[in-house]
Amino acid sequence: MLIGRDPDRLADTVGWIADQVPGGPIRTVLADLSSLAQTRRAASEVAELAPSLDLLVNNAGVLSPRRTETAEGHELTLAVNHLSPFVLTEALLPALATAGRARVVTVGSSSSDMAAIDPDDLELRRGWFMTRAYARSKLASLMTALEIAPTLQVSGVFLNVVHPGLVATSLVRGGGPAQLAWQALGLVAFTPRQGAETPLRAALAPELDGVSGRYLKPRGTATPNRRALDPALRARVLAATRALL
Ligand SMILES: NC(=O)c1ccc[n+]([C@@H]2O[C@H](COP(=O)([O-])OP(=O)(O)OC[C@H]3O[C@@H](n4cnc5c(N)ncnc54)[C@H](OP(=O)(O)O)[C@@H]3O)[C@@H](O)[C@H]2O)c1
Repeated sequence: MLIGRDPDRLADTVGWIADQVPGGPIRTVLADLSSLAQTRRAASEVAELAPSLDLLVNNAGVLSPRRTETAEGHELTLAVNHLSPFVLTEALLPALATAGRARVVTVGSSSSDMAAIDPDDLELRRGWFMTRAYARSKLASLMTALEIAPTLQVSGVFLNVVHPGLVATSLVRGGGPAQLAWQALGLVAFTPRQGAETPLRAALAPELDGVSGRYLKPRGTATPNRRALDPALRARVLAATRALL
């Protein structure tokens, strides 16, 4: 099952998957994941189509060239990279728990490794900069994931966060120097197929069965930002996240 915001790109992806794995039914759910209302509606549709769900991959992400707010008033980067996957994961917990043993893979980023975070200003109303907003959103996502992982585990839901490596994708859009620099980095980056390997490992590897609360990189388990290891700060970020929903 795929969630996407663009019908044509969803159809292309369905076609690509059908070519790789013929025969399997592929369902699609249309939703703009910058909207928490649409995220919740998408979760309901997914749960209706699949009341028992054994895998959720939170992959959608954005690196916005300028500070914009969604119609719901959230900073776009935080909404897509952190609030939406958090909402989706919590809304799909009953379906995941029904599977008996399920995995959640949240695609994070090593940009979080050196980021700072202020639970009172997750939306970066002060000092917004594109890479700072991106790194902070990924750190907030990692911190809340690590904070809720033990609770999920009780229901047989195992949640890990993955950095896929530097991957030549269309993450940086909108032209200008940022996109040019991104395209140059693409020359030394993983291909999308290589970039999928670590998320796929988190989703499928038998040795990660029952493993939860890890931060995985292409070379294996990594130590996250020291802020993510501070339980009091993690709890504040979780509370601040819930307050935004
Ligand atoms: N590329 C890297 O080096 C790198 C490194 C670390 C982490 N990551 C993470 O990897 C994940 C995938 O990114 P990517 O590099 O593959 O970039 P990408 O090619 O731009 O893919 C991002 C995906 O997110 C979707 N998306 C963005 N905003 C959305 C929205 N509002 N609603 C629904 N879908 C939305 C995009 O859909 P559309 O096609 O409709 O735009 C696209 O499918 C992201 O979480 C990113 O932060 C990437």
